Amino acid sequence: MKIAFFDSGIGGLSVLHHAMKLLPDEEFVFFADEDNVPYGTKPREMVMNFVDDVFRFLLTLDVKAIVVACNTATSVAVREMRRRYDLPIIGMEPAIKRAIDLYGDRRVLVTATPITINGEKIHSLIDRLGKRDIVDLLALPRLVDFAERQDFTSNAVTDYLREQFRPYCFEEYSSLVLGCTHFNYFKDTMRELLPDNVKFVDGNEGTLRELMRRLNLLPSNVTKNQKSKVEYYFSKRKVTSVEELHSINIYLDRLDKMFSI
Ligand code: DGL
Repeated sequence: MKIAFFDSGIGGLSVLHHAMKLLPDEEFVFFADEDNVPYGTKPREMVMNFVDDVFRFLLTLDVKAIVVACNTATSVAVREMRRRYDLPIIGMEPAIKRAIDLYGDRRVLVTATPITINGEKIHSLIDRLGKRDIVDLLALPRLVDFAERQDFTSNAVTDYLREQFRPYCFEEYSSLVLGCTHFNYFKDTMRELLPDNVKFVDGNEGTLRELMRRLNLLPSNVTKNQKSKVEYYFSKRKVTSVEELHSINIYLDRLDKMFSI
């Protein structure tokens, strides 16, 4: 049986990309809800319906677990999906705890979509950690559109980020949390705008550790050159065209470059 990874769009490829390294012998389904992306600026009820529709579809595909590789969909719907469906469902949330565990009590800037930033889930996480005084939240919805257009480094991207980062005194920060899976594509562009003391933290590894724990899987310790078996879907349409598969490979190549930043 396969492991499904699902996102509103191509952001979730960053989690799948990491999974292919850790679990090269597994077979995967990747579902990008391209007909409905972006989720992060839409009403929560609408997103709940999108997610339920995707789950119903994925359950027809012989999957043994669903990874919601989308912080926004997790924030809105993961609790309800766990109530409705009986299989392991692994969600994602901005890796604020990891940032604090790694770098201590220096300031943390959490970037995510508006839904995630305004959702109750992230605020109860910050309160549980007792770290409201050092955590700042910043919504960067335009990065989702840029990523969907494969625009990662243009002047428009740099100008947008420069403007959004302007209010922060980054010397006081230990880290920037990538709280939306679409943001992993911009690490080099962000790196140019941030001082070296600001490290990137994402939730990919934690999510995959949870997946492996739930399915009793061990990470591979050999790097294999063979490509993992993945079936791709754009909404409910299986991706078979050379052009679209090529476009997915452009994203995966970019993620290879971003991996070590
Ligand atoms: N990639 C998604 C996340 O991790 C959100 C993108 C969107 O707005 O659809 O939150």
